[in-house]
Amino acid sequence: MGIEIEIEIEMKQKTLLSVNHLTKTYQQGKKQQPAISDVCFNVYENEFLAIMGTSGSGKSTLLHILGMIDSPDKGTITIQNQLEPFMFEEPHATAFRAEQIGFVFQAFHLLKDLTVEENIALPLILKGESEKIIKEKVKKQLERVGLSSWGTYFPGQLSGGQQQRVAIGRALITEPPVVLADEPTGNLDYNTSLEILELLSELKTTKGQSIILVTHDPLVARPAMLIALCFFMMDGLLMNILLLLMLMTWIGLLKSSKK
Ligand SMILES: Nc1ncnc2c1ncn2[C@@H]1O[C@H](COP(=O)(O)OP(=O)(O)OP(=O)(O)O)[C@@H](O)[C@H]1O
Ligand SMILES: [Mg+2]
Repeated sequence: MGIEIEIEIEMKQKTLLSVNHLTKTYQQGKKQQPAISDVCFNVYENEFLAIMGTSGSGKSTLLHILGMIDSPDKGTITIQNQLEPFMFEEPHATAFRAEQIGFVFQAFHLLKDLTVEENIALPLILKGESEKIIKEKVKKQLERVGLSSWGTYFPGQLSGGQQQRVAIGRALITEPPVVLADEPTGNLDYNTSLEILELLSELKTTKGQSIILVTHDPLVARPAMLIALCFFMMDGLLMNILLLLMLMTWIGLLKSSKK
C-alpha cells in the first residue's frame, strides 16, 4: 500500500532539487553574521516558488548557494535525487550551472558591447553549439521574450524592461530545468514588473521549467502569491507562508482567549 502511494507521488512530481539543512555564516571582521540557518525544501519539476523577506534575511545567499556561486558551511543539495559530494567545487559547479540553472539578476548583467542577439546567444557560444543551431534558437528566444525586432540593438538602446527580457532570454536559451531570479523586477516600474512576472510564470506552463523568484517588493509579492508557492525568509530561516499565517492566527486566537 505504502509503495503504491510513493509511486503515485513520484509520477506526479519529479524532484529537481532537494535542499537539506543548508547553513551559511559569513565572517564580517570579528563578527559572525549568520545568513541562512538550516534551510530545507524541495524544488519540483514545473513549479513556481516565490521567496519573500526583508532585506538581509538571506534570500540572495540562498539563491547563490542553489546556483553554486557560493557554498554552504553545512548541508547538501541533491540534484534529481543524486548527491554529488564535490558539487560546490570546480569543475563540478560550473558544469552544474551550465546544465541545470538559468540566472536572472536585478541589474540585468548584460554585456553592453554585444547586441541583443549576441547577449542571448552567449551561453550557447560557450557550450560550443553550431552557428546554425545558435541562429535558430536565438530567433525563437527573441520571439518568446517579445523582442523579435530588437535583435541587432545594443542593451544601452533598450528600456529597463526590455533589458530584463534580454536577460531572461539569455538565462533560458539552454532550457535549464531551474531558473533562479533574484529581484528581477527591482529596477523596473510596477507595470513592467507585472509583465516580467507573467513572462516568468509562462515558463512554467509552456516549458515545464521551475522558477525560484526572490523579492522583497510587496507590489510583486502580492501577485506572486496568486501564482506561486510562497515562502518567507526571516533572519536566515525559511518558512512556508501558509504555515506562518496559520501560526500567526493561532497565536492571535490564543492571546484573545486569554483576555
Ligand atoms: N559576501 C558576504 N560577506 C559577508 N556578509 C555577507 C555577504 N553576503 C551576505 N552577507 C550577509 O548575510 C546576510 C544575508 O544577506 P543576503 O544578501 O543574502 O540578504 P537578502 O535577503 O538578499 O537582502 P536584500 O533583500 O537586501 O537583497 C546579511 O546580513 C549580509 O550582511
Ligand atoms: Mg538580495
